[in-house]
Amino acid sequence: MDAIAVYEGADEPVVTEKPRPEPAPGEALVRTLRVGVDGTDHEVIAGGHGGTPAGEDHIVLGHEAVGVVEDPNDTPFEVGDVVVPTVRRPPNGANEYFARGEPDMAPDGEYHERGIVGAHGFMAEYFTSPAEFLVEIPSALAEWGFLVEPISIAEKAIEHAYASRSAFGWEPESALVLGNGSLGLLTVATLDESFDRIYCLGRRERPDPTIDIIESLGATYVNSNDTAIPDVPEAYEPMDLVFEATGHAPHAFETIEALAPNGVGALLGVPGDWEFEIDGGRLHREFVLHNKALVGSVNSGYGHFESAVESLSGLSAEFLGDLVTGIHGLDEFEAAFADDDTTIKTAVEFIAYEER
Ligand code: NAP
Ligand code: BGC
Ligand code: ZN
Repeated sequence: MDAIAVYEGADEPVVTEKPRPEPAPGEALVRTLRVGVDGTDHEVIAGGHGGTPAGEDHIVLGHEAVGVVEDPNDTPFEVGDVVVPTVRRPPNGANEYFARGEPDMAPDGEYHERGIVGAHGFMAEYFTSPAEFLVEIPSALAEWGFLVEPISIAEKAIEHAYASRSAFGWEPESALVLGNGSLGLLTVATLDESFDRIYCLGRRERPDPTIDIIESLGATYVNSNDTAIPDVPEAYEPMDLVFEATGHAPHAFETIEALAPNGVGALLGVPGDWEFEIDGGRLHREFVLHNKALVGSVNSGYGHFESAVESLSGLSAEFLGDLVTGIHGLDEFEAAFADDDTTIKTAVEFIAYEER
């Protein structure tokens, strides 16, 4: 079968031939429909994040998949069920994090991430997975199912942010999303119902399709060239929630200054090493005297996938059509990895739902 992989030392993905996987006991065989591409895939391709499975010279890409059960094997699934796989797998049999159903809380070394680190991903015509890592979704969502995983990332971070504010009567009204990439835009759409006022920060000038999407969602675009993050409270308003999805390391600290008293910042970016100066005393004081919180958040668990399915079903066709700028077959898969200002969210399509 065809798969899309990146080889060690290469800086772009290629189509490669792999044997079709055989489901082991407890695993289903899934025929892949679509697999999304995000900033992490670009980091894996560039060699800045993740790593190939042990003893191999390549990794099959893809962690945002949707597929159809082809062979349920001995699992409770039925042929034709539409499923989305979760990303993490235990490296050497189960460990306490997986046993608790919290693989997203496992530290380095206690997990592989399919398509990212230590395990092949889903960008192949077929994949197998233990049933416990497959989330069934309504067939009506098959077309957009590759968005469940990235939405689940936002669901987890938001849950942890709220949990950090659960000791008192927190009634958030304003939210600022840092980053107008696919994660940032999906988060703006997901937050839509919960906040009175939503802002999204980027560094693009108009006209720009991501700014159009932000405004079509009723949110306010903040141009970081005009307004630095510490100036956001003065220029707009102090933010009850900041959701960082740029991977720009100074934003982690600038978030503290954008927060309202009692606010919380969720950090999701994965920057490389980066040294810069900050006024640590001022930030420390600001943090303590205003009861602020920062939470880091990575990956997501089964329950976050279920919440994401719910959120996805509430997103408008107009928003999804604007966000997804390209669905590319294997014959033009390179286009799914384009990294320009007109490409927002893309997916590689292995087979259309209707044609399988
Ligand atoms: P992406 O498509 O690369 O989006 C990043 C966005 O941030 C881009 O739109 C970029 O703007 C903007 N940006 C970068 N630096 C900026 C700056 N200095 N000022 C203003 N805007 C800036 O990536 P993504 O897929 O949305 O993911 C976002 C980040 O979250 C990445 O770091 C990724 O690794 C991380 N991530 C983490 C998790 C997790 O589990 N924690 C999950 C998924 C992704 P331009 O396009 O104009 O350059
Ligand atoms: C994926 C997560 C993963 C994270 C760090 C993200 O793009 O969506 O599942 O945990 O990268 O590797
Ligand atoms: Zn991702």
